[in-house]
Amino acid sequence: MTPWCAPEHDPLVLVRGEGAYLYDDCGRRYLDGNSSIWTNIHGHGHPAIVGAIQEQAAALAHCSALGAANVPAAQLAKALVECFPKGTLTKVFYSDDGSTAVECALRMALQFWQIQGQAHRTRFVAFKGAYHGDTLGAASLGGIPAFHDCVAHLGVPRLSVSSMAALEALSLEERRDLAGVVIEPLIQGAAGMRCWPSGLLRSLRDWCTAHDVPLILDEVMTGFGRTGTLFACEREGVVPDFLALAKGLTGGTLPLAATLTTDRVFDAFRGSTFYYGHSYFGNPLGCAAALASLRVFEEDDVLTALPPKIRYLEGLLHRWQQDDPRVHAVRQCGFIAGIEIGQADGRPFPPEDRMGAKVCLAARKHGLLTRPVLDTLVLMPPLCVKEADLDLAVEALREGLRAES
Ligand SMILES: Cc1ncc(COP(=O)(O)O)c(C=O)c1O
Repeated sequence: MTPWCAPEHDPLVLVRGEGAYLYDDCGRRYLDGNSSIWTNIHGHGHPAIVGAIQEQAAALAHCSALGAANVPAAQLAKALVECFPKGTLTKVFYSDDGSTAVECALRMALQFWQIQGQAHRTRFVAFKGAYHGDTLGAASLGGIPAFHDCVAHLGVPRLSVSSMAALEALSLEERRDLAGVVIEPLIQGAAGMRCWPSGLLRSLRDWCTAHDVPLILDEVMTGFGRTGTLFACEREGVVPDFLALAKGLTGGTLPLAATLTTDRVFDAFRGSTFYYGHSYFGNPLGCAAALASLRVFEEDDVLTALPPKIRYLEGLLHRWQQDDPRVHAVRQCGFIAGIEIGQADGRPFPPEDRMGAKVCLAARKHGLLTRPVLDTLVLMPPLCVKEADLDLAVEALREGLRAES
């Protein structure tokens, strides 16, 4: 809080967005290098999404989803279910953001086991380095000490593992109390863009099926094209028992989240009630925006246009790493990239130097907005960027690093 409250602090005030760019109150333009904290998909002010929101706002901006339906929420649920193989994820429950999408999956899993007469199943397997949000349940499954140590013991019981081998080594007693396994598929975001070994997700699905433990995939960051496919789980032919979606669901325009699940889970609740809900769940504006965003994916063939851009970014980052010893590692999964920086002799920068933050701040002067995870610089621009925008982004980071070290 101290630097933010310091009298000399001059906050960045953003007033407008157009395509992949944001504009501040002085008219300066910045490439949105982290898609406004991993949310924006098709660029700011996309006319199809803006139009859908305006039209819906004129008809009905909000109504409670308690005991009532609304048209965009029903249409969106259908569209989301149709993204997955028929008969797999068939039901959709709405909430507001990534944390609540995960929280809702946890609550559903817990109550599902209670209904099945297995109330002892209260513990979730989560992975070291995980980030699943900031509500108490989701945060207690987080595995980043700085964020989570203060709450880990206060929420749902967690069993922390770091690999498939560790999961496979769980004893029968440990397995017996499991309510679910939660993972960010393919890549952990807040841990510093750390990719899982190829095949891990498939093995995890097989393990969960063999032991009848629900698999909860948190695609809050990876969903909606970030990894090159609409959802990361497609890459390993996996369908989870619960899927948490948010951030890019509305194209990054409005807060809306969805937790998808199976008929098995839904049917278990038929004689019961799922005691969970937020005032704005199923909000018609958010659902209209999400429907419009899905249409843009189709009409603009967004996913087909991605592979050359992903390769182009790969090339830029590879060349930077080759000619700068301060780039210690480049981790990329589709259109999500983390560039780990450190000293030229291979040692990390001292943490108190906050070099990642300084480099990102310096990159602003070169027209890029992004945030690091410690000393990992994050590049995750909207999917609509062009090659020239990627050139600008990488050049701005290079300049930022040059200026600071
Ligand atoms: C993988 C993952 N899950 C959940 C969340 C929480 O989402 P929100 O900030 O919308 O609550 C995040 C946020 O960064 C995330 O990256």
